[in-house]
Amino acid sequence: MTNKLNNPYMGVYKAILSRRSIRRFQQKPIPIEILKKFINAARLAPSAANFQPLEYFIVTEKNLCGKVFETLGWAAYIKPKWSPSEEERPNAYIVILFKDTNNKYYLRDSSLAAENIVLSAEEEGIGSCIICNVDRVRLHEILELPKNLQVDSVIALGYKAEKSVVEDFKGSVEYWRDKNEVLHVPKRKLEDIFHINSF
Ligand SMILES: Cc1cc2nc3c(=O)[nH]c(=O)nc-3n(C[C@H](O)[C@H](O)[C@H](O)COP(=O)(O)O)c2cc1C
Repeated sequence: MTNKLNNPYMGVYKAILSRRSIRRFQQKPIPIEILKKFINAARLAPSAANFQPLEYFIVTEKNLCGKVFETLGWAAYIKPKWSPSEEERPNAYIVILFKDTNNKYYLRDSSLAAENIVLSAEEEGIGSCIICNVDRVRLHEILELPKNLQVDSVIALGYKAEKSVVEDFKGSVEYWRDKNEVLHVPKRKLEDIFHINSF
């Protein structure tokens, strides 16, 4: 039996607390072994009926990263319309693919896999952003994917070049950037979202 003292994975809650979506990155490559570690974390995520319908496409090559970037939509609440500049784009992407459209739980599987990836990234000091605003048809073509695989989502990755902090929710879910370019992300307060034994 492992207890808290000898459990090597006890940093998970810390990573959950500190992880924020990051959309500006340093131009420094992520070692491939680290990216493979993220896929391993995704591989071991819970899977409905253990069907494991997901595969992962790692993009690191600069030219290909540029093409993937063109298919993505960024930070819809930031006005005027914004996306990372050329010097702050992601250094790598993990594209989550699914292969069985009859599996009604694949979205849950991909969400759990994505969370394992972003938490593993946080543990490595790497910023991440899950992106579902994706031109999936175009991305499928760009990556020359086989027909039996479909694009679910894209995780943008890179060493962090921005700060994002949590704020208490005060009526709007919209995140904002302050004059120092720090991102502020409203989250509903703990005491507002749970019920113990009765409503
Ligand atoms: C399913 C899903 C889809 C998302 N799609 C996008 C997206 O297309 N573009 C983007 O910039 N952020 C996207 N995000 C990031 C969210 O905007 C972000 O998680 C949210 O604002 C809360 O901020 P936090 O991740 O820092 O807690 C997505 C997140 C999730 C979970």
